[in-house]
Amino acid sequence: MGVRTTVSRATAALGVAVLLASCGSGGDGGGGEQPGGALEGRGEVTFATGKDTSGNMQKLVDEWNSSHPNEQVRIIELPESADAQRQQMVQNAQVKSDAYTILNLDVVWTAEFAANRWVVELPADTVDAGKFLEPAVKTAKYRDKLYAAPVYSDGGLLYYRKDLLDAAGLQPPKTWAELTAACQAVKATQPAIGCYAGQFEKYEGLTVNFDEAVHSAGGDVVDASGKPVVDSPEAKAGLDALVTGFQQGVIPQKAITYKEEEGRRAFQAGELLFHRQWPYQWNLAGKTDGSSQVAGKFDVAPLPGLNGPGSSTLGGHNFAISAFGKNKATALDFIKFFTSEPSQRSNLLATSQAPTLASLYDDAELIKQFPYLPTLKESILSAKPRPQAVRYGDVTQAIQEAAYAALTGAKPSDVALKDLQAKLQELLK
Ligand code: GLC
Repeated sequence: MGVRTTVSRATAALGVAVLLASCGSGGDGGGGEQPGGALEGRGEVTFATGKDTSGNMQKLVDEWNSSHPNEQVRIIELPESADAQRQQMVQNAQVKSDAYTILNLDVVWTAEFAANRWVVELPADTVDAGKFLEPAVKTAKYRDKLYAAPVYSDGGLLYYRKDLLDAAGLQPPKTWAELTAACQAVKATQPAIGCYAGQFEKYEGLTVNFDEAVHSAGGDVVDASGKPVVDSPEAKAGLDALVTGFQQGVIPQKAITYKEEEGRRAFQAGELLFHRQWPYQWNLAGKTDGSSQVAGKFDVAPLPGLNGPGSSTLGGHNFAISAFGKNKATALDFIKFFTSEPSQRSNLLATSQAPTLASLYDDAELIKQFPYLPTLKESILSAKPRPQAVRYGDVTQAIQEAAYAALTGAKPSDVALKDLQAKLQELLK
C-alpha cells in the first residue's frame, strides 16, 4: 500500500470522525439541539401521505384548517403502494427538500428515517405511552427515542363470506387445512368463486404476507435478537402453503398481481370466499351504495395458521416531522390533533382503520358498530413486527424477491429461503 493511500485513508477516517462527532452533538446528546432544528415556527405546512383509500383524511385536515386559518395543512398525495411512497420520501430527504413537512411513515421506516436524521426527534410527551397500544408505540421509536406518533395501527384479519359458510354449515377456519376444506365445500355450489387471496404483488404487502405465512407456521424471519433465521423447515412449510395454494388453485392466479386495493375490489365483487386484509376494508366492503356486492354477507375472524391459530404482521402508520420542513411547531400540533381521542374516534367511525388508542377497542358503543374490535386488538397485541433495519428498503426487497420467486415457481422454496437467509445475514449484520 502506497504512502499516498495511507494518508488519504487516514484523512478520510478523520473526516468521518468529525462528521460523527458533529452529528453526536445533535439529538442524541440529551437536552441538546434537535437534529434538523428545534420544533419551532408556525404557518403553512404540507403533509405527505400515501393515497388515501379511506376518503377521510381530507375531512380531518379540513377540520384542522377551519380552526387554524394561519396554519393551513396541505395534503400531498403520494402513490398507493408503500414502496413507492417510501421512495419519494427518501428522495426528498436526500436532497434536503422542504417540500414535505409532516410525513406519514409506514411503521417499518422509523429506523431508516431516524438513523439518517431525515426526521426530528419528538418530545417524549407527544405520546402518552400508557394510553396507546404498546406495539404501536414501539414502532415509533428508534434507540429508545420517539421519532413519530402512532396514528393508525394495523393487524391482518381473515375476511370471509359468512353467507356462503353458513349455507355450507361451516365455521370460519382456524387452520390452512380447514380453509382449503371449506373452499372445496363451497365450490360444490359456487364453482366460480376464488378461495383465498392476500397481497402477493411484489411490494411491501408481499413482505407482510410472507412474514405472516412464516410466523403462522411456527417459523421466524429474524429471531428476538434480530438475527436472520428464515432458512428453517417451519418457514419452508409456511411459504409452501402459499406456493401450493397457487399451484392448486386455492389462490387464484391473478392474486399474484394483488395489492390491498385489487384484492378489495375482488372481494367486493364477490369473487373471493376468504381474503386476508387490513381493517380498512370493513367499512368499504360494507357499503350499501352499490359499490360492494358483499355488504351484509361477510364477517372477519383471526388469521388461520398452518396447524393452529395464525399470527399477523404488525402494520400501521406513524406521523413524523421532516428535518428539512418549515413550521415544525405547527406540524407537532397537527400531529397531536390527529392522534387525539376525538380524531381517532371519528376516523374509526368513518373508515374502520385501526386506532392506536387502546381505550377505543374496549368502547361498548364502538364495539356495537365494529364487533371485531376485540379480535383486532388481540391480533395487534400479538402481531409480529417486520425486521427492524436502517437499511429496511434493501431488507424488504430481499424478502419480496425471495417470496415472489417461490410463488411464481422461478425458484424452489428451499432455494429461495436459503438465498434470502444469506442476503439478510449480509444486510442485518
Ligand atoms: C398497510 C400497513 C403497513 C404495510 C402496508 C403494506 O398500509 O399499515 O404497515 O406496510 O399495508 O402494503
